[in-house]
Amino acid sequence: MTIPEISIPITEIPLEKNIKLFIKREDLIHPEISGNKFWKLYYNINQYLEQQPEHPFIVTFGGAFSNHIAAVSALGKEQGIKTLGIIRGEELENKWQENPTLAFAHTNGMAFRFVTRAEYRNKESLTRDLQKEFPNALIIPEGGTNHQAVKGIQHMLNEGTKSFDYLCTAVGTGGTVAGLSKFAEEHQHVLGFKAVNDPTLEDEVFKLSGKKNFNLFEAHDGSYGKITNENIRFINNFSEYYGIQLDPVYTGKMMRLIFKLIKEDFFPENTSILAFHTGGLQGISGANRMLEEQNRPLIKLMKS
Ligand SMILES: Cc1ncc(COP(=O)(O)O)c(C=O)c1O
Repeated sequence: MTIPEISIPITEIPLEKNIKLFIKREDLIHPEISGNKFWKLYYNINQYLEQQPEHPFIVTFGGAFSNHIAAVSALGKEQGIKTLGIIRGEELENKWQENPTLAFAHTNGMAFRFVTRAEYRNKESLTRDLQKEFPNALIIPEGGTNHQAVKGIQHMLNEGTKSFDYLCTAVGTGGTVAGLSKFAEEHQHVLGFKAVNDPTLEDEVFKLSGKKNFNLFEAHDGSYGKITNENIRFINNFSEYYGIQLDPVYTGKMMRLIFKLIKEDFFPENTSILAFHTGGLQGISGANRMLEEQNRPLIKLMKS
């Protein structure tokens, strides 16, 4: 993978307070391997390809709407690498075509293996079996999170991010927030907004980053992937006011909680906050399909 020669914009979100809020549009790094996914995969893939495998093959894991699955499939297509997705939920076996994320991954050439939720939870044994079955494959964990992923996240930071007091990101498997924590400046504080109700994340992030300069907030509205009407309203208002599309699972929930914290005076006056837009916009069509079935308001998609 080569780093695209684009400069990622940092855009101000104007506030009526003595606090500065900016968003770094990491989602623009690549049209399909977007945001943190690009950086989490960067060292994993390049290290694997340096070994010049005869038949490069990537196996990874994800749920039906996984941004990571979409990104890995796109990467496979771009780099000419075969990919296999281990997908949570055996019920999808006969209806994956109706799921926009899996249909997209399939058009990129990804093959699927559907497993039960119990099998999926037992990822260690699943990974061991896969490693035996495909000894030359690169097996990437769920969400792409490992030490190589953490290393890649350093590229989300640069000269332009050094002066901010707070660095904010949505949290799924913890690799992104761990990378920000590991590579942040001494004076910076890292805030992670959990899209998953997982009490072990705090320890996992510390294991990966080795630093205690972060705090995690519960931003999941009860469970992973839950989309409340308040969330939809927030995302639609945000794109209307600021011209930036957010997703309903990660960035929308993060931004909504940042706004709430600002309102509650969590951030001291004169501080500056940088929130990372980590992508995830491919998930909107799947979310809207589900919302439509439930006769609920839809997420407006900005024209790009
Ligand atoms: C859009 C988006 N934001 C944030 C995250 C959370 O990243 P991590 O799993 O590294 O915590 C993900 C998952 O990769 C994601 O797809």
